[in-house]
Amino acid sequence: MGKMTLDEKIGQLNLVVMGNAITGTVISKGVEDKMKRGEIGGIFGLYGTANVSKMQDLAVKQSRLHIPLIFGLDVIHGHRTIFPIPLGVSATWDMGLIQQSAKIAAKEATAEGLNWVFSPMVDIARDPRWGRISEGSGEDPWYGSKVAKAMVKGYQGNNLMDADAVMACVKHFALYGGAEAGREYNTVDMSLIKMYQDYLPPYKAAVDAGAGSFMSSFNTINGMPATVNKWLLTDLLRKQWGFKGFVVSDYTALNEVTNHGLGDLQTVSALALKAGLDMDMVGEGFLTTLKKSLKEGKVTPQEIDLACRRVLEAKYKLGLFKNPAKSINAEKEKQDVFTDDNRKFARQIAEHSFVLLKNQGETLPLKKSGTIALVGPLADNHSEMLGTWVIAGDPNKSVSVAEGIKNVVGENVKVLYAKGANITDDSLLSIRAFALTGPEVKDKRTPQEMIDEAVETAKKADVVVAVVGESANMSGESSSRADIDIPESQKELLKALSKTGKPLVIVLFNGRPLTLTWEDKHASAILDAWAPGTEAGNAIADVLFGNYNPAGKLTATFPRSVGQIPIYYSHKNTGRPFDGTGGAKFKSDYLDISNDPLYPFGYGLSYTTFSYSGVQLDKTNPAGNTTVKATVTVTNTGKYAGEEVVQLYISDPVASISRSVKELKGFQKISLQPGESKVVSFNITTADLKFYNDKLIYDWEPGQFVVQIGTNSANVQSAAVQWLK
Ligand code: BGC
Repeated sequence: MGKMTLDEKIGQLNLVVMGNAITGTVISKGVEDKMKRGEIGGIFGLYGTANVSKMQDLAVKQSRLHIPLIFGLDVIHGHRTIFPIPLGVSATWDMGLIQQSAKIAAKEATAEGLNWVFSPMVDIARDPRWGRISEGSGEDPWYGSKVAKAMVKGYQGNNLMDADAVMACVKHFALYGGAEAGREYNTVDMSLIKMYQDYLPPYKAAVDAGAGSFMSSFNTINGMPATVNKWLLTDLLRKQWGFKGFVVSDYTALNEVTNHGLGDLQTVSALALKAGLDMDMVGEGFLTTLKKSLKEGKVTPQEIDLACRRVLEAKYKLGLFKNPAKSINAEKEKQDVFTDDNRKFARQIAEHSFVLLKNQGETLPLKKSGTIALVGPLADNHSEMLGTWVIAGDPNKSVSVAEGIKNVVGENVKVLYAKGANITDDSLLSIRAFALTGPEVKDKRTPQEMIDEAVETAKKADVVVAVVGESANMSGESSSRADIDIPESQKELLKALSKTGKPLVIVLFNGRPLTLTWEDKHASAILDAWAPGTEAGNAIADVLFGNYNPAGKLTATFPRSVGQIPIYYSHKNTGRPFDGTGGAKFKSDYLDISNDPLYPFGYGLSYTTFSYSGVQLDKTNPAGNTTVKATVTVTNTGKYAGEEVVQLYISDPVASISRSVKELKGFQKISLQPGESKVVSFNITTADLKFYNDKLIYDWEPGQFVVQIGTNSANVQSAAVQWLK
């Protein structure tokens, strides 16, 4: 750094975009010239060894100090081989699979010259209107922390110097998922207790797991935009949590602080630097104003040095100073990308991510014989299989459901196909939801003609499999929805199919919890497949025909109606709780709908059934820092082998502040043969009892706790314990 000029130091703080990863209205210009002048610290959006090597060469050979660039990309759920969207991945409740998905993504990304990924997204989301709920792990901070850790470890491996390791960028710091009304980029206003207890833990877990970088979020937090929020970026992240890496802004988020009303670009850039922001994504606020601010005494040389040092340190940690071409290896690019093994893994993790929401009269698994009517706009489709945030994945290489069924059951099953509906006929949704990918190719027939054909097809079959739901970009960034039903055109199709009286299996594509009240009432079975990725069709067919028995569990509550949102299992009690008795007045309820969700957090069925014994505790009056062992016996009472996610919740009915009705504190995924029983135990310590009190001190308080173990957050067995100090 002693050799660097002021301009070169400021240059390191500048991140530019190339390629097609554009999510704002500003695009970087004059990149090559800027690079030669040392005005760029990193590039994102570019991948492939030829592309990366060209730019790295420019930086290393033609800039004065030969400082290598860092290359980033939104590798969100796989790089070339695409895994399910993160909300789907989280429904596996399998940290081994989750970590492996990040590891494979890192291997593919490094094979294409990348060394930095804008993932994991660890924002807690309790409002399914918000489209980015698809990119995270749902509503629960304890569970989200486990996933955050697994992802960071998967990406970064044991040593960032390793050829297959990428630096994680944890986003979006912070509380982005708390946007008012679920509207994208909207204000967040939250009590400190809620923040610490329910929203911050996954970010903290990512720091503890050694994440190398963080991305600030677009939103304000209690009036202060995250990008210029000193309390957030310095006091909390660095001083309280001990984060040692660098912080990058989100896409032009620094410039947008002006829209939040904090002043012009020079003012907000100075604020951001002082707050602890190190790198400015695309907007060039740092590049164009910091020198002036320094002259005017608005920032100090030490503040610029500190940010520059943090960016350079990241490059050191990645081994780029030793070998700027570390990830540039054309052989590796050929060998490590989109391999058979990676595809095999994609199929496995997709199968594990599916959640069986309904299965009346054992409609599923389907017989490997007879005739199926395969209908719906997503049944014979490649482009929508991968889900949101796919930059390097190729939709043409994904397996459609129609192909998957053929691969899995061949000619044993006769498949009759009818499209039945367009994804949507709503003109606004058509324009907005397909803005990135180009318009949906609409069928030339009228909706009624399509439905009629589907109904005729259904009549000739033993069972109807309707593959319906959201297209890939109906969720993700800038994809909030006020109505979270299956789009109307498809709903009409389902209604007509249901009238045929044939068993109706819905295979659902969705990037968020949807309101499925009608579907839950009328379909025979519902399999939630999210957006499964490259191996979509194969994985869906495996599960439909029973080659794999689904075991996924929801990590976000499914409401009955948008009016219940935000809805989450770990809510607080009220002074006038509703006890489920109809007609009662002056209770915390709705006149027109129950308080209960349609499908609670942790919910998911299996082709088999499980029974739970009562909860046994080895101590009921523990004292101090001891361990209480809570045990249940789980039995497979059905006729298929299956896996079950056994969940532990704890509630703290009397405390110094009002606590959530229950909180997840453990889970175990077990597999059981038909008739088999397993004893499952959890060791509970005082660490599981801690919470943030009104002074924001994280501690536990002696008294009664109710230990609850069960198959989902709403169906548990419980036992009480009196825990003394
Ligand atoms: C998104 C980030 C993303 C960035 C770069 C932004 O619009 O909010 O999640 O990493 O663009 O693509």
